[in-house]
Amino acid sequence: MSKKKLVVLSGAGVSAESGLKTFRDSDGLWEGYNIEDVATPRAWRKDPQLVLDFYNYRRKNVLDAQPNAAHFGLAELEKDFNVTIITQNIDDLHERAGSTNVLHLHGEIFKMRSERDHELVYEIKGDIKMGDTAEDGQQLRPHIVWFEEPVPMIEEAVPVVMNADIFVVVGTSLVVYPAAGLVNYAPLNIPKYIIDKRIPYTSELMNITTIEKPATEGVRELIALLLR
Ligand SMILES: NC(=O)c1ccc[n+]([C@@H]2O[C@H](COP(=O)([O-])OP(=O)(O)OC[C@H]3O[C@@H](n4cnc5c(N)ncnc54)[C@H](O)[C@@H]3O)[C@@H](O)[C@H]2O)c1
Repeated sequence: MSKKKLVVLSGAGVSAESGLKTFRDSDGLWEGYNIEDVATPRAWRKDPQLVLDFYNYRRKNVLDAQPNAAHFGLAELEKDFNVTIITQNIDDLHERAGSTNVLHLHGEIFKMRSERDHELVYEIKGDIKMGDTAEDGQQLRPHIVWFEEPVPMIEEAVPVVMNADIFVVVGTSLVVYPAAGLVNYAPLNIPKYIIDKRIPYTSELMNITTIEKPATEGVRELIALLLR
């Protein structure tokens, strides 16, 4: 028998217990910065050095962080399910925990790209500096989807959610669109689980089980429910 398709939408909360801060938990600041100052195209035009410093620092944080039991638990589910993880996170903790099918909606901290040509993408573990250029001679920027930028990966994510047999939401406030809108594409009658320290508001979703717990505990409970 083929495995059921289990689709996970994850957000910053799944990495919180790995020491990577979410930003809505800290008064709308991300590590002390206003989002508008570091994560928008306007910020990049105004002060690219500040933006590079911010993401260079984020990259170091992620290098120092380790996947937690929530990441490992979701990776383990691949034994019993056909799992796709759609994450809003820019860290690589799902992959390092062993998940093999991860779609990054908002980019990846270990990638950079030409500021003009979105196709010229490169791996990066160290810092990006002003003056570092892509093959087209343009400045390199983090391969991150900033606020107010289009989210091309949403096109790939929508059909994945539409074809899910089971849908799980973990550690996201569901306020950043279009990512948050993905929940509305899940088939009406499939089982849905929401794991969060504080369950976010969702309108009119059917068949929901809420698990109001930190991600590590919540994923353990999810696994027990799914394999029951
Ligand atoms: N690790 C990362 O890559 C990272 C970190 C911060 C922000 N971001 C970016 O910020 C945007 C924010 O959207 P978002 O919805 O992902 O984050 P968010 O900060 O808006 O929401 C975080 C959610 O996680 C929950 N939460 C916090 N700690 C938790 C825990 N231990 N266990 C379970 N849930 C917990 C909160 O209650 C909240 O609902 C994304 O676009 C993302 O790219 C990424």
